Parts: sequence; structure tokens; C-alpha cells
Amino acid sequence: MVFNMPKKTILSGIQPTGVFTLGNYIGAIRNWASMQEEYDCFYAIVDLHAITVRQDPNVLRRQSLDCYALLLACGLDPAKSAVFIQSHVPAHSQLSWILSCYTQFGELSRMTQFKDKSSRYSENINAGLFTYPVLQAADILIYNAHYVPVGADQKQHLELARDIAVRFNTVHGETFTLPEPYIPKEGAKVMSLTDPTAKMSKSDDNANSYVSILDPPEMIMKKFKRAVTDSDSVVCYKEGKDGVNNLMTIYGVATGMTNPQIESEFAGKGYGDFKTKTGEAVAEMLRPVREEYARLSAEKDYIRDCYTAGAERAAAVAQATLREVYDKIGFVV
Ligand code: TRP
Repeated sequence: MVFNMPKKTILSGIQPTGVFTLGNYIGAIRNWASMQEEYDCFYAIVDLHAITVRQDPNVLRRQSLDCYALLLACGLDPAKSAVFIQSHVPAHSQLSWILSCYTQFGELSRMTQFKDKSSRYSENINAGLFTYPVLQAADILIYNAHYVPVGADQKQHLELARDIAVRFNTVHGETFTLPEPYIPKEGAKVMSLTDPTAKMSKSDDNANSYVSILDPPEMIMKKFKRAVTDSDSVVCYKEGKDGVNNLMTIYGVATGMTNPQIESEFAGKGYGDFKTKTGEAVAEMLRPVREEYARLSAEKDYIRDCYTAGAERAAAVAQATLREVYDKIGFVV
């Protein structure tokens, strides 16, 4: 690395709405952990975003704390990165209001996640659900993040954040860094075990469709044994074999093997063997996470110290950006 080159900034966020799945782990959090040396990282538990759908207060509070401990158990290091709870840094909400005045109604109306969620939660199409992407833009722009690791479902929100940044910069002069999506080198999207055409999701009604990262090994084995495959019983990566392709992706990540290596390991063997091996590899990959989480669950004071320090570290950067924005738009500072 070039001496004295400032590190680039990464920001990402995850909702505290339940234990992360294997999909969250493989597709996101595992990569967040590996970026901590090379980048200046900000990782937020986005509780403000979570209340766009109705939450039970006690459940939300417990899940926010559990998710925080889980992030640490997955390898986020509070000494290296700012790991914090979004609502602890009020500057996000403050910038969000300002940015909402630089976002068009039409732009927000085109967001596919809004369209999906407003049909799914048709009894509660609140304004927060509509302005959700503006808050997400504030999360990103307030740290002048260069890169945002996101899945395909969040790309539209990231593009909107860029559009808002360009608009603000055009009116008020260079202020925000334009964020880019970060596609991890080992990009992997994990699909549902029961419907491999849909993304693995913790909000799926069928608990067999996802593996939670705290599932005990027996349960992981059971879910993989039931995973949907196809009727031709050949382990190979090929279009149309969504179930097998998904298991191969997972097995590849868990073992570090390439697809050709996996294909030759299981040549002439049935799916039963392949599913068992995949279950075992996943249970083993998640072992350190389970063990560290069990240890951290007893360390309430340590967790509180970490999220307090994380918020202070984040707020120092966020506050400076907010002040610059206040000044540029003509607030008395
Ligand atoms: N909307 C994201 C999701 O549901 C979570 C999120 C909120 C986020 N703010 C963010 C992701 C900022 C990346 C950057 O997955």
C-alpha cells in the first residue's frame, strides 16, 4: 500500500429485524469483516429504517442489541471500524430532512422496494416507507462513503443517493463524495433452500427456506437435507439447476472450493451425499460465530461500551458533514 494514502471509506447498514441468515452472512457480513484493514469502515444497525414497518418496542430493542453482538461475533472489530446503532447518531435524521428537500416525489415513486413494501404492508403505507431511500442516502453521504457494499435489491437506492449528491453538489458546490456500489470479489447471492428462484430471506414464512447463522448444527443438517434440488441427480453448475447451483455456491464459500472441484468431488454420487456435506461444511463455517456469540451474550457491559464508542466515532464525522451542509444551505451556524 502507498504510504500515507488515506484509506477510502465504506459504509453499510443492516436492519435489526431478526437473526441474520446464511445469505446475509455470505453475501454481506463476511465481506464487511474482510474490508476492515483496507478501508475506513462505518457499519450501522439501521433501527430508524426498521420502524417503517410496525415493530414491537421490546422486540426491536432486544433485536438491535442481539444484532450488534452478532456483528461482533461475525468478526466486525469495534477497534478497527465504527460499529454503531443508527439512532444514536442524530445527524443521520437531520441530514435526511435536508436531503428530502433535494429529492423529487417522482423519484421516490419509482423505487421498486417502495412499490413492493406498500403492496405487502398495504394497511400502513406511511411517509417513512416512502422517504426510506432518502434516509439511506443520508447514511451514505454523511460519511462521504466511496463504496457501499450492497446486494442487487439495494442498487436502485444507491443510484438515488448518487443522484441526490450530484444535485446537491451542483447547487451548492462540491460537498458530497459520489458513492459507488462495492461488489465483493467473491460475490455470492444465496437463494432460498425451498424456492431457489427467490433470495434467502429471514422474513420468509417458511423457516426451512433459510438457515439462521445461530441455528444449531442438527438444524442446519436438517434444512440442507430438505433443500430443493432437481430430478437429474448430477452435481454440476448449469443454467436451470437453480437448487443445485445454490448449494454449490454455498458449499464453495464454506470450503473454498471451485465449481469444477465440487463437480469432481461428487461425480457419480447422489444429491444425498452432496447435501450432507454441504450441511456439515456450513455448520463448521458458522461454528466460530455461534461460539463467539454465546460468549458475547454474557458481556452486556462490553457491548454497551462498544456501541457507545462506535456512535461517538461515527458522530464526529457525521457532525462535521452536517455542519458543512448547514452552512452551504444558509442556516445560521
Ligand atoms: N436498505 C438497506 C437494506 O434493507 C439497509 C440500509 C440502510 C443500508 N441504510 C443503508 C445499506 C446504507 C447500505 C447503506 O438492506
